[in-house]
Amino acid sequence: MTRRWTITSLLLLLIYVCSRSANAQTQIPEQTNTIDLEAALPEPRAYIPDSQYLDFVYHNHEELTRFLRATSARYPNLTALYSIGKSIQGRELWVLVVSSSPYEHMLGKPDVKYVGNIHGNEPVGRELLLHLIQYLVSSYETDQYVKWLLDNTRIHIMPSMNPDGYAVSKEGTCDGGQGRYNARGFDLNRNFPDYFKQNNKRGQPETDAVKDWISKIQFVLSGSLHGGALVASYPYDNTPNARRLKGICRSSALCAMFQTYSAAPSLTPDDDVFKHLSLVYAKNHAKMSRGVACKSATPAFENGITNGAAWYPLTGGMQDYQYVWYGCMEVTLEISCCKYPPAYELRKYWEDNQLSMIKFLAEAHRGVQGFVFDNNNNPIERASLKIKGRDVGFQTTKHGEFWRILLPGYYKLEVFAEGFAPREIEFVVVEQHPTLLNVTLTPSKRTEGSLPISQLYRPVPGPPPHLYRPPTPGYSGDSGLFSSITSGLNNLYSNLFG
Ligand SMILES: *[C@@H]1O[C@H](CO)[C@@H](O)[C@H](O)[C@H]1NC(C)=O
Ligand SMILES: *[C@@H]1O[C@H](CO)[C@@H](O)[C@H](O)[C@H]1NC(C)=O
Ligand SMILES: [Zn+2]
Repeated sequence: MTRRWTITSLLLLLIYVCSRSANAQTQIPEQTNTIDLEAALPEPRAYIPDSQYLDFVYHNHEELTRFLRATSARYPNLTALYSIGKSIQGRELWVLVVSSSPYEHMLGKPDVKYVGNIHGNEPVGRELLLHLIQYLVSSYETDQYVKWLLDNTRIHIMPSMNPDGYAVSKEGTCDGGQGRYNARGFDLNRNFPDYFKQNNKRGQPETDAVKDWISKIQFVLSGSLHGGALVASYPYDNTPNARRLKGICRSSALCAMFQTYSAAPSLTPDDDVFKHLSLVYAKNHAKMSRGVACKSATPAFENGITNGAAWYPLTGGMQDYQYVWYGCMEVTLEISCCKYPPAYELRKYWEDNQLSMIKFLAEAHRGVQGFVFDNNNNPIERASLKIKGRDVGFQTTKHGEFWRILLPGYYKLEVFAEGFAPREIEFVVVEQHPTLLNVTLTPSKRTEGSLPISQLYRPVPGPPPHLYRPPTPGYSGDSGLFSSITSGLNNLYSNLFG
C-alpha cells in the first residue's frame, strides 16, 4: 500500500513538474464580494429555552425522533429532516438541515455539519444539538447573526450517530465503556479508513452510512461532539511515528505507557487553520480555553486545544478521514468531563457551549471559495485543487464549486482537471470576508503518450483525492507485541478520557 502510493506520488510529481514548466500561469484575479460581512453583525443573542418544545432532559430515540419531526413540521421553511440510514438495531440515523434553503444546496454557499453521540455513552452533544436546532429555528426572525448564518449556510445536524449505544448507556456514568460501541461492539470512531495505517476493522452500518453521506455532500466544516474531557482536538489523530520508540524501548509495558504519555504531535499542512478553528470553539466556550484538567490524573490542555495524536494516537478516526478524503475540516469537540452527566446539568452545558457552537460554524465563511469553469462557462466537476505548500488536496463539486478555510495571507491555488491545462492562481485572503475566486481552465493540447489525469487521480470513494502524498510515513505495518500493548493502552486511555 505504502509503496504503491510512493510510486504514484513520484509519478504525479513528475507529471506536475513537467506540466508546470509548460503551462504555469499566474494571475491575480479581481475580487468582489457579495457576502454579508459577519464581522459587521452583532453577536448572537442568548437562547431562551422554551420547555414547551424542548426541556433540558435526555431524550430517548423515540422522543428525539418526535422532536425532530415536530420541528420540521413547525418550521418547513427552515428545516428538512432526512435519515442517512439505520443503525444495526434499525434506528434511523437522523439528520436535520437548518437553513433558509433546507431542501436545496445554495449554489456557492457552504454546507457544514455537527455529528453527536458517535460514542453512545457520550450524549451531552446529542442533547445540545437538539437545543441548537431549537435555538436556530426560533432565532431566525429575531437575531441578525442567526439570520445571516442560515441565509448563507446549510447546517446539517445529526444528534446521534450511535443510537444503539445510547440505548444501553446509563445516566450518571462518567467513565467506562458501556454504550460506547455500536450494537456489534465496534468503536465507530475507530471504524473509518485510515490515512496512516491499514484499518482492518469491518465497516459498520453506521460508519458506512456516514461515508456515503459525506461522499454526496461536500461539507466544508464539521464538529464531532464527544464527552469525557474538555478540549477541542484537531487532526491528525493518527501518526506515522507510533513505533518511533520501539528500538529504544524494547517491549516493556512501562515504555508503552511512556510513549502514550509522550505521544508526538501529528500535524496536518493546515495546522494553522485547525488550531484556529479549535481556538474559536475553546475561546467562545465558558471555560474550555482555561485548559484546566478534568481530574488530577488527566492532562491539562493549553488554551483548551490539542492535536489529536499528541493527546493519544488512534487509527480509524472520523476526523482524519473527512479531511484527507474529502477536504472537510472536522474538529473533535470534547465538551464534558463526565461522559453521561445527570440531566439537571444539561442547562449548564448548553450555556457553556452555545456561543461556541454557533461561532465555530461561521468559520466556514473564512478563506477562499469559488468555481472552476471551462471556456464555455460550464462547471468542471472533480477538478483537483490544492493550496500550494499544503499537500492535502480537495475537489470541486458537480457545480464546479470549491471552498477552503484559510487564515489571512497570500496563497497560490493549483488547479488540475482532465483534458485541461493546469493552472496556478495567486490570491489573497483577508480577515473580513471570504475571497471569491473563479477559475477558467482551457483545454490542454494533447500530446502523444501523455497520461490522462483521471488515471492518476482516482475519484472518491477510493484512495484520498490527493495530488501529492505528504512525506511517506516511516513505518511498515502495525503488528507485534509493542504496538498491541500500545493500542491496548490507547483503548484504555480513550475509554477513560475520550
Ligand atoms: C414559508 O414560506 C412561504 C413563501 O415565502 C410563505 O408563504 C409561508 O407562509 C412560509 N411558511 C411558514 C410556516 O413560515
Ligand atoms: C463566479 O461565478 C459565479 C457562478 O457563475 C457567479 O455567481 C459569481 O458572480 C462569479 N464571481 C466572480 C467574482 O466573478
Ligand atoms: Zn468519545
